[in-house]
Amino acid sequence: MMERNSELMEKIVSLCKRRGFVFQGSEIYGGLAGVFDFGPRGVELMNNIKQSWWKANVYDKENYFGLDSGMFKHPKVWDASGHTSGFSDPLAECKNCNARIRVDKELEKVGVTADEKMSEVEINKLFDSKREEIKCPNCGQKNFSEARAFNLLVKSNLGDFTSQGTDPVYLPGEACQGIYLNFKNILNTMSPKLPFGVAQINKAFRNEISPRNFLFRTREFEQADTQLFVKPNENKAAYEAIKEDRWNWYLSLGIKEENLRWSQHENLVFYCKEAWDIEYNYPTGFDEMEGIHDRSDYDLTQHMKHSGVDLNYTDPETNEKYIPWILETSMGLGRVFLAVLADAYHEEEMDGSTRTVLKLHKDLAPVRVAVSPLLKNKPQLVEKAREVFTMLKKEFGNVAWDDNGNVGKRYRRQDEIGTPHCVVIDFETLGEEDAKLKDTVTIRNRDTGEQERVHIDTLVEYLK
Ligand code: GAP
Repeated sequence: MMERNSELMEKIVSLCKRRGFVFQGSEIYGGLAGVFDFGPRGVELMNNIKQSWWKANVYDKENYFGLDSGMFKHPKVWDASGHTSGFSDPLAECKNCNARIRVDKELEKVGVTADEKMSEVEINKLFDSKREEIKCPNCGQKNFSEARAFNLLVKSNLGDFTSQGTDPVYLPGEACQGIYLNFKNILNTMSPKLPFGVAQINKAFRNEISPRNFLFRTREFEQADTQLFVKPNENKAAYEAIKEDRWNWYLSLGIKEENLRWSQHENLVFYCKEAWDIEYNYPTGFDEMEGIHDRSDYDLTQHMKHSGVDLNYTDPETNEKYIPWILETSMGLGRVFLAVLADAYHEEEMDGSTRTVLKLHKDLAPVRVAVSPLLKNKPQLVEKAREVFTMLKKEFGNVAWDDNGNVGKRYRRQDEIGTPHCVVIDFETLGEEDAKLKDTVTIRNRDTGEQERVHIDTLVEYLK
């Protein structure tokens, strides 16, 4: 395993840029902090992660439904959810260089945990007691303003033609609200019985005070959420089962178990009764990748109160009416993407030199298999290679044609983007050297570097 440090982070960021995985947003204008663009390889890897998640959370389950809600929501949604009043981070400014810090994160660095529910007065008391130990990360001075609660919701002017900014339509601070807003629609159209779940992948936006660590803390990101609706007080066993299920999903992606750990929240956010995080051992150390939250009846009760619409569930057996409780899983796809890369990234000796290789699970790799003719100036080799390429492309879709440089260089290039197999069409494929080898190809394994000869007729089977 590669050592976790800032050097590993720099290597991953550099590989992402060099090989078309991730680019800084608006790069040609100098970049936009906290926003990233996923390039041709990145979008494939991300789509593969999403597909795996969707399969595990919708197709492999009997009682989960998919959803894709609109991002913009009625302004009242964020009052009901508690975000307009309670979704803030404590912000202070350095009086010397004007850099902004998140006071709770700086307090954490000196061993103090700030409760998310603390008032401005309470957090300032804590901050004052530690001011001598907290340095500005930009200029090193210790001269800060008071901490103030800074709301993280991002405003838009959607539908506001007056430019007065009253009652703004916010961008979503969390993706899950769309699920609560559609609870009644799902009851009416799908007639589900409790317990049932809804799964959704959607964007979230937060005015993060200090976006940092590449994809870890961004201002625009995607969340993959499930909300399981259960009978009141029937949350405990379901919560434990969900925790186990989510842990196993990460293992199914090939993530090493030693790089995962559980962390329970001592200080709960306003909507939570119980919260556990699955943390990953990022290049910067263990930190949150996914939150698993027992939200009890908080969300549906709030939306019922603020909308005036009855959100009770009628039990088909007893005719009893009640508000179901909600168990949530919420993961940031950027954080999972970064974890997958950090886990897969290796530098190792092979054939007398050091290679960089992404040992990605074959179902996640942006390129499933690369095909090349041994020599690109031999028409017979190229023609045969094109035949194999077309056949594999029909089967797998994400197949690369690679005829640049010598075969060794092609292998190294494909190693760097995590391609599990490379297929080479050579003179033996044409049957020129040994008739028995006609229509066989060389197939090279990314992780071992071993090469085998496989008949074209069995190639798809072999790769599957
Ligand atoms: N609906 C619950 C919710 O949003 P959260 O713990 O605030 O809970 C869930 O967020 C997940 O979203 C986190 O575990 C993390 O993976 C991801 N996430 C949160 N803020 C993020 C940010 N600024 N950048 C990237 N991912 C973020």
